[in-house]
Amino acid sequence: MIDNTSDSDVIIRTATYRDLDDIYRIEVESFKIPYPRKYLAVLLALSGDLFIVAENNSKVIGYAVGVLRHGNVGHVISIAVSKEWRRKGVGTKLMLELERRFKEKSMSTAMLEVRVSNKAAMKLYEKLGYKIADRIRRYYPDGEDAYLMLKRL
Ligand SMILES: CC(C)(COP(=O)(O)OP(=O)(O)OC[C@H]1O[C@@H](n2cnc3c(N)ncnc32)[C@H](O)[C@@H]1OP(=O)(O)O)[C@@H](O)C(=O)NCCC(=O)NCCS
Repeated sequence: MIDNTSDSDVIIRTATYRDLDDIYRIEVESFKIPYPRKYLAVLLALSGDLFIVAENNSKVIGYAVGVLRHGNVGHVISIAVSKEWRRKGVGTKLMLELERRFKEKSMSTAMLEVRVSNKAAMKLYEKLGYKIADRIRRYYPDGEDAYLMLKRL
């Protein structure tokens, strides 16, 4: 069979509880210390339209979730794309849509934390205009530092 799948077949939509299994599968394959399924379920319940998924042919291939903070800051809590879909622009699409939704809610800044070793994610964020604002010592449970990155929306 010829695979004509392309980036343009990817749609971004608000996540629902029915997506939880797919989101958790992507979470587990993407992170050294994945969020527990129950935590993702709570985020799904609380984040409204700031929990989004990328979908191709009705299959969830990535997700991103944000929350609103004081000071008109949109906080990107997590983003992940399933392994076979990486480097096809899906992460960029998810970030741009989350930023659009932040702006719609009058957020003026987007904020995120990233492991100092996560070069792929940092490249993505830098390409989107995020700048390192701080280094947070031992931010992650395994003791790794995080960069705090900010973007003016
Ligand atoms: C980080 C992540 C979400 C990126 O998703 P993606 O769909 O592959 O990203 P995109 O295809 O939109 O990439 C956009 C740009 O980011 C950079 N980039 C992405 N992955 C990269 C990699 N592995 N190495 C170097 N640069 C990379 C490139 O500049 C890329 O543009 P290009 O492909 O034209 O060169 C994905 O790698 C992932 O799910 N990683 C595991 C989970 C994770 O680390 N999440 C971030 C937590 S802070």
